[in-house]
Formats: sequence, C-alpha cells, structure tokens
Amino acid sequence: MSHPKKRILLIIGGGIAAYKCLDLIRRARERGFAVRALMTKAAGEFVTPLSVGALTGDRVFQDLFSLDDEREIGHIRLSREADLIVVAPATADLMAKMAGGHADDLATAVLLATDKPVLIAPAMNPYMWRHPATRRNADLLRGDGVAFIGPNVGEMAERNEAGPGRMAEPLEILTAIEARLARPTSALPLSGRHVLVTSGPTHEPIDPVRYIANRSSGKQGHAIAAAAAALGARVTLVSGPTTQPDPKGVDVIRVEAARDMLAAVEASLPADCAIFAAAVADWRVATESDEKIKKDGKKAAPKLELIENPDILKTIAHEGPGRRPTLVIGFAAETETVVAFAQRKRKSKGCDWIVANDVSPETGIMGGDRNTIHLVTADGVEDWPEMDKVAVAEALIARAADHLLSITANA
Ligand code: C5P
Repeated sequence: MSHPKKRILLIIGGGIAAYKCLDLIRRARERGFAVRALMTKAAGEFVTPLSVGALTGDRVFQDLFSLDDEREIGHIRLSREADLIVVAPATADLMAKMAGGHADDLATAVLLATDKPVLIAPAMNPYMWRHPATRRNADLLRGDGVAFIGPNVGEMAERNEAGPGRMAEPLEILTAIEARLARPTSALPLSGRHVLVTSGPTHEPIDPVRYIANRSSGKQGHAIAAAAAALGARVTLVSGPTTQPDPKGVDVIRVEAARDMLAAVEASLPADCAIFAAAVADWRVATESDEKIKKDGKKAAPKLELIENPDILKTIAHEGPGRRPTLVIGFAAETETVVAFAQRKRKSKGCDWIVANDVSPETGIMGGDRNTIHLVTADGVEDWPEMDKVAVAEALIARAADHLLSITANA
C-alpha cells in the first residue's frame, strides 16, 4: 500500500523503547509515508539524532529555542506540514505535559499548537502506567481526542517487571497509523451505519413486586453506544433497568425482561453491527404470579421453578442473510479460564467477536469503572491493557468501524 502524500511527524520521547522508533521509521517509509522526526531532550539519551535522521532522510528537530530550527521551520510549520502526529514512546512525563497543556520544549509546543490528529504509543513501567496520576492524564488525553495504541502487557526492560507498559510493536503502531490516515476526514467512519447495542441487566419478574436481577450497571454497554454515536453511527440502545443516563444522540429502548429485550432487538434490525453487552438473565420464573405471593399462614417457602430465557446473542447471530448484522459481538463475563471459555463461546454462539473479561469479585469489574479485556476473533486473541470502560468502548468501536470499512473496501 502506498501513501505518497501522507506525512507523519514522529515525536520520539525519552524512554528505553525509543530504539523501536528506528524500526518504525524504516517500515513507515517502506510503506510510502514521509516521516519527519522530532526528538525530546531525553530521547537523545536513548537514540542519536544521527541514526534517526539517517532513517528519515530529513533533518531531526530537537530544540524550541534553536534559531535555525525556528527560523527555517517553526513549531507551527512542523504541525502544519504533517497529516498525523505520532508520539512514540509516550512517556508518563510527556503524557502529563500534554494533558496539562505545557509547551516548554519543541515537542510539547508542537503538540499544543497542532490541529492535526495525534496518536500516542505509551511506554513506561507498569507502576507508572497504573498510577492514578497517569490514569487521570490518559483519561484527559482521550477526552481531548488523542488516540492510543497500547501499551501492551508483557515483560519490561527492567528484570522481573511485567505488566501493562510495553510500547506497542512498530507493526501495531503502523496499523494504527494506516487506520487513522485511511479514514476520510470529511465523513465520520460510522456515518450511514446502524449500530445496535444491548446494555444493563434484565429483571425477570416473580410477581408484580419481585424480580430476579444481577449486578450489571450498564456502564460498559452505554459507553459503547455513546462511542458509536460519536463516530457518526445511528445507534439503537436496548437497555435493561439501569441508572445510567441516556447517551447523547442515541435512540434508547427501555425493557425489563429478557423476552422484551429480544423483541426490541428483533424489531430494531437490520443493523450493520450488533454488540450484546447486556447481562441477560439465563433463567426466568416459569409461571409469573399475577398477584403478590403472600406469606400468610403458609409454612413452606414458595418454590420457584426456573426455565431458560431465549439467548438473544445466539438468536441474532443465526439470523439469515439480510437480517444478520455484518459484525456480531458478544461479551463473555467469566470467573475462570476466561480466554478458553470465550473461544468456545464464540463458536457456540455463532458470533464474530467475543469481548472477554474476568469478573471475579476481586477484579471489581462488575459495577466498576475499569475493565481488562481480551478480544477473541477468528484470527486469535488480543490482550488489551486495563482501561476505563469509556476507553474500552472507544477502542472497540474504532476496531468495529475499521472492520466494517475493510469489508466495504474489499466488497
Ligand atoms: O452465555 P453467556 O451469558 O455467558 O453469554 C454472554 C453473551 O451472550 C453476552 O454478550 C450477552 O449479552 C449474551 N446473552 C444474550 N442472551 C442471553 C444470555 C446471554 O444475548 N439469554
């Protein structure tokens, strides 16, 4: 694939992963991108401007106060002459400066002055990545529209240190760059598409006042609906009872029981993509009592006979051509051998992707704000770093949008 006119401004931060930028530059140029590099002062401790410049075939920019740099190509022009700014490695310090709007060196001045899309590849020690300050900064940056690739989970340069914080590999960064630059800037990637999302728990009635429920908050499903709307989709959100506010620009259909949820989902088809994030009760009471079941005088507690609810995900995944959404995504909330169960579930449910997460009580995922997921597709398993549920939603929707675009492009 060649992109003769696409120009990347690569800002190299000061981290051990900076050496991977040499490979990134080489591969990006092989694919036809023009790459201009800018190094922070700390980056110079890890790679030399000489090797970076040899690979970009251009001079390397370093100093905000260099008369030469500023007179010939100032920080504004560096931004203007790029189609995308990539920050790799994005250190905790650089992220903090970006989130705080600092501009005390060339890298931060460019990042503050730019109106171009920005993609960052964080790289740091897992403790730094998990620190509340970095979490806050990452949330602020996402809110500002900065896109993230990684960090990956794995061994760190320090011995015996493992966890989220490894910079994404050059090929992964390149895929993210290509996805961003391939998008038409005038149209949002999901405009003209219909995305259907289920969210929240279901309430299965026992009698007019009692029901069987579960602890799902609806946070993840609602965030997915919001993320799809933000990328231009027409979104239908079929939600069980939750306290979540309706996401902006989304059609919300409120239901209580699984059967109502299925009926609402069926009525909302066709859709290009359907994401089943609801925690649907597997069973309901066989015969719902029309009257409140009373205690008076009865010695034995009433026995509740349970029967199976319809499986909404499975039903929709098995719809025929024209009715089955192009991309059907299910969730798998498990408490053990999460990925193996999810792989089996993908096949048994007939869906395309499974978003799997560990909901053992110690993870705090159920009802919490954060999520660690594994994306199971026909191509394999991706382990995503821990993110807040909004970031998971945005990343998932971005992936779904790319997938739908690639199907249309290949059709
Ligand atoms: O079988 P299990 O409940 O683990 O499957 C989870 C996935 O299936 C979720 O995507 C959930 O929304 C969906 N599901 C459904 N209808 C059911 C049960 C689960 O749509 N009755």
